[in-house]
Amino acid sequence: MLTSFHARTQSAFHPTPSTESDRKVRLGAEASPPQDAGSAGRLVMTDGDPGAPGIRRAQLDQVGFKGKVGETLVLPQPKGPLTVLVGAGARGSLTVATLRDAAAAYARAAKQPRLAFSLANTEALPAEVAAQAVTEGVLLARYRYRPSGTREGREGEEPRLEALTLVADKDLEAVRKGVERGGIIARAAWLARDLSEAPASLLTATRMAELAVALGKQAGLEVEIFDGEALLELGCGGLLGVNAGSAEPPKMIRLRYRPAGGEQAVTGRVALVGKGIMFDSGGLGLKPNDLVHATMKSDMSGAGAIFAAMTALKALGATCEVTGYLMCTDNMPSGTAMRLGDILTIRGGKTVEVLNTDAEGRLVMADALVLATEQEPKPDAIVDIATLTGACQRALGTLTAGLFGNQEVLTEQLEAAAERTDETVWRLPLDRRLRKELDSTIADMKNVGGDFAGATTAALFLEEFVDGLPWAHLDIAGTARADRADAWRTKGATGYGTRLLIDFLMGFRPPALAQH
Ligand code: BES
Ligand code: ZN
Ligand code: MN
Repeated sequence: MLTSFHARTQSAFHPTPSTESDRKVRLGAEASPPQDAGSAGRLVMTDGDPGAPGIRRAQLDQVGFKGKVGETLVLPQPKGPLTVLVGAGARGSLTVATLRDAAAAYARAAKQPRLAFSLANTEALPAEVAAQAVTEGVLLARYRYRPSGTREGREGEEPRLEALTLVADKDLEAVRKGVERGGIIARAAWLARDLSEAPASLLTATRMAELAVALGKQAGLEVEIFDGEALLELGCGGLLGVNAGSAEPPKMIRLRYRPAGGEQAVTGRVALVGKGIMFDSGGLGLKPNDLVHATMKSDMSGAGAIFAAMTALKALGATCEVTGYLMCTDNMPSGTAMRLGDILTIRGGKTVEVLNTDAEGRLVMADALVLATEQEPKPDAIVDIATLTGACQRALGTLTAGLFGNQEVLTEQLEAAAERTDETVWRLPLDRRLRKELDSTIADMKNVGGDFAGATTAALFLEEFVDGLPWAHLDIAGTARADRADAWRTKGATGYGTRLLIDFLMGFRPPALAQH
C-alpha cells in the first residue's frame, strides 16, 4: 500500500521487477551451443591456444588482444553465432573470481539476448564450481534495474537476457548443478539490487514488509512483522527513536529459515541483523544536498542483503537455522523527530544519548542485536550488516567492506566466504581503548565517538549489545553501490553481501565446534 499522494502517482511501480520478468531467463547446459544462441563465448589464456578455429595467436597479437582477464574480442562468423573471445589471464592462474569476471566481461561484450559460453579451459576448477561462477558472472553483469512504467531500450541499453547455455563436452550433470546453484544465487543478488535501487518514496518500510511476506513465504521462510505498537511492547527504543520524525511507520521484519528434518538436522544457529534505513536524510542534522545524500535510498542495503540471501536457503538446502532481523524505517527531520540530546532506551534497558541524528543505523541495529541474544536456544553466532559509516567507505573504498568481530573462528569463516564470492572484506580493529569515546555523563553511552576512527567507534557501539556472544559486523557503506560497471558489478546497487552471506551460511559451523 502506498500512503502518500506523491507515491500514488507511481502506482504502476513494482519495487522488485527482477522477481517477475527476469526470472524467465532460461539456464541450461549442453554439449554444443544451441542454434538460437546469438554468440558463443570462449576463454583465451595469455599463454594458451587462441581459442577459435582458424585463428592464429599472431593474428590476436595484431589486434592487440592478449588474453588478460576481462579483455574481449568479438569475431563475426560466416554463419552461426558470433564468437566472443574473453581473456582469462595466464593458464595456471585461473580462479573462481577471474572466471566469474571473465564471464561477466563476455556477457557485456556479447550484448545479445541469448548467450552460450564454453567451459573449455576451466579444467583447473571442478566443473560444478566453474559452471556456478560463469552463471553468476553472466547474470550479475547483465542485471539492469527495470521498474515497470520506465521506457525500455534507453540509450546504450542492450536487450534483456533471455537464455544462457553453458557448453561442456564432459561432466554435464555437474555443470547443470553448478548452473542451477549459480542461478539461485545470482537471482538472490538481483533481488538485493532491486531493493537497494528502489526509490525511497515507493519502497517504504511498510512496502518492504509486504514484500517480505510475499517473497519470504514463496521461499519457505517464516515471516513476522512487528509494527509500532509491537515495537513499543518490545521496548525497541532505538528503532522507534529514529522513526519519530517520519510520516511512514517503522517495521521490524523477522525472517526465519528452519532446515528440513527438524531439530536434530540443525547444524548451527545464526542470527542476522540488517540496517534497513529506507532513506537516510540525516534527520534534524540534515545531510547536505550532495551526492552522498542522493544515494541514501540504498541505506537499507544490509537488510536487503539478508532478505535476499535468506530467499535462497531452502532452494540450496542449507542446514543451519537462520533468523534475520530487518530494522526498517526512514530517518527524517520533522517537528516530531528525535532531537539532539534526547535519550533513547534500547531493548533490554541500556540508554543512549543522541548527539548526532545522522548516526541512526547503530540505534536501530542495537534493538535487534539484543533480541538476537535473547533467542532460545541462543544463536551460535550473530552477524550484522549495515551501510554504517562514511569513515569505512573512505578507508577501504568501494570494493572492500570492513569486517569487525569478537571471535576469530567466526571472522575467519566470513573472510573465507568473502574470498570465495569475491565480495571482499578487510579486517578492521575492534580497539577497545576507544570505547571511552562513547562515554556519556547522562546515559550509558553516546551514539557517536570523536572525529577519528568512526568505523571502529560505530562497531564498538554495536558490541555493547551482543552480550559477549560470538559476533561479527560488516560495514558495507562503501560496497553497497558502484560508480561504474566493473566485472560482476553493475553501476548502482551491487547487492554486496548477498552472495557472501549465502556462502557463509551454507558452510557455517558453530565457532565452539569448529575450534576443535
Ligand atoms: N548511512 C550513513 C553512512 C553512509 C555514508 C553510507 C556514505 C553510505 C555512504 C550513516 O547513517 C551516517 O550518516 N553515518 C555518519 C556517522 C557519523 C554521524 C558518526 C557518517 O558516516 O558520517
Ligand atoms: Zn544511515
Ligand atoms: Mn546517517
